[in-house]
Amino acid sequence: MTLSELTTTLGCEPSRFHRIMRFLVHYQIFKEESITRDSIDFALTPLSRRLIRHGERSMAALILLESSPVMLAPCLSLSAHVLNSGNSPFEAANGKDVWNYAEVNPGHSKLINDAMACDAKVAVSAIIEGCPQVFDGLESLVDVGGGNGTALSMLVKAFPWIHGINFDLPRVVAVAPKVDGIEHVGGDMFKCVPKADAAFLMKCREAIRHDHKGKVIIVQSVIEEDKDDKFEFVRMMLDMVMMAHTSNGKERTLKQWEYILGEAGFTRFNVKRVNAVQSVIEAYHL
Ligand SMILES: C[S@@+](CC[C@H](N)C(=O)[O-])C[C@H]1O[C@@H](n2cnc3c(N)ncnc32)[C@H](O)[C@@H]1O
Repeated sequence: MTLSELTTTLGCEPSRFHRIMRFLVHYQIFKEESITRDSIDFALTPLSRRLIRHGERSMAALILLESSPVMLAPCLSLSAHVLNSGNSPFEAANGKDVWNYAEVNPGHSKLINDAMACDAKVAVSAIIEGCPQVFDGLESLVDVGGGNGTALSMLVKAFPWIHGINFDLPRVVAVAPKVDGIEHVGGDMFKCVPKADAAFLMKCREAIRHDHKGKVIIVQSVIEEDKDDKFEFVRMMLDMVMMAHTSNGKERTLKQWEYILGEAGFTRFNVKRVNAVQSVIEAYHL
């Protein structure tokens, strides 16, 4: 679009808008396609394609969540948190932890669910492509904290023999879309998790089969501290987000995963790298 088409459509003051576009072009969010004497054309780049709301591999919902005032305010309380390790920065800024805040703010809850779903789409397609064998022989799979069921709906489509149980807080599953092959179950993961052959996430050791087949599948970053890995910046940035938005959440190194899985009572685990920020960790009882 030309600058004048953009300013007319958006109702912006042209010279201020042009300064913003100049910055965004420099930042490679847009590019100038052709410049004539009286018009400048702006086009999308790979970065801005990720910002289109309904585009393929869109990250728009995640950016909308992370740039919301509710999520930005805790970042301003980080120094107090680092200095005295008191309350979580999210609680300091918003008076409640993130899940209790979402419970009384349905608009924020929707922002979270949509953001998680767009992130899940990218991660789960890399998992289906990179390590489908993780799902071999599974008859049932519970996604613990599965949000609106996006991850599970992709998994049951790719592996139709799996019965999917999408487990999340009652208010989250109440608004999750119905999908064939998926049962939505509401509850509190810290009290009880529905039984299945395998579970996504943690705290699920009791829910899985007590034999060599039962496993917890954790889809999470493994920090490598490797400057050459194209995803490492995102993993470290997510660690900052964890510090700002959760009480004690963090992204972990392989050594920290080894420790936490051992403490949780798993006897063995393996890590599968896929073409995504997250890796797939399979943790077994036996
Ligand atoms: C960070 S999101 C992850 C969503 C999804 N697994 C994904 O990766 O896209 C965490 C999810 O856990 C859910 N959750 C938080 N506390 C919970 C609890 N006590 N019991 C069950 N689910 C919970 C939230 O509603 C949210 O959907």
